[in-house]
Amino acid sequence: MGRTVFYTATTLDGYLADEHDSLDWLFKQDVDPEGPLGYEPFIRGAGAMAMGATTYDWVLDRNERTGDAWAYEIPCWIFTHRDLAPVTDDVIITTDPVPDVHGRMVEAAGGANGKDLWVVGGGDLAAQFAEHGLLDEVVVSIAPVTLGAGRPLFPRRFDLALLEHARNGDFLCARYAVRGPLAAGSLDT
Ligand SMILES: NC(=O)c1ccc[n+]([C@@H]2O[C@H](COP(=O)([O-])OP(=O)(O)OC[C@H]3O[C@@H](n4cnc5c(N)ncnc54)[C@H](OP(=O)(O)O)[C@@H]3O)[C@@H](O)[C@H]2O)c1
Repeated sequence: MGRTVFYTATTLDGYLADEHDSLDWLFKQDVDPEGPLGYEPFIRGAGAMAMGATTYDWVLDRNERTGDAWAYEIPCWIFTHRDLAPVTDDVIITTDPVPDVHGRMVEAAGGANGKDLWVVGGGDLAAQFAEHGLLDEVVVSIAPVTLGAGRPLFPRRFDLALLEHARNGDFLCARYAVRGPLAAGSLDT
């Protein structure tokens, strides 16, 4: 079975988007999508993905403005409590528990020897996977920007271990293993 990875860009102060869900701060940055920890090698290795309702809305709004089509060629689960419409046959709207959906994602990605699973975000959804022990890695591309407020990167307490780091254009990129909930007492040291 592949890794389950929260792969995302973030600001230096830990936001995925500003309070109005804008990513303007992100798209002005220089990046090589084929470069270190870049998007292209990552998406080639992914066999299924999941995102929350706000992120889905954001993608659909952007596509409407730009005229772009849904860009993903792998099954994508959308977590929501609302009655959202799937934009393609590969989009699955779900209210099911995270572990059940994770099992279906693993199957869709090829099972025991399958591809990676991409948790797109937001941060709370990624943390829900981690709380169920179902998130292996967090890969962040840190933009040289601070916002002061916005949608948080990972709003729970977890221990991570740095596995890899690199520069890609304007970004500092880092790959972490999720070790588990932040150990009691580790805040006092
Ligand atoms: N920087 C980046 O690369 C990057 C990456 C990802 C996202 N983003 C942006 O960051 C923002 C993230 O927004 P967000 O923090 O609101 O997170 P989100 O995960 O996109 O959306 C949160 C919503 O998802 C639904 N949800 C989450 N967990 C659920 C569960 N277990 N079961 C059912 N529904 C569940 C709920 O929606 P309902 O209750 O309304 O149904 C919840 O309000 C968006 O603007 C997105 O575009 C940026």
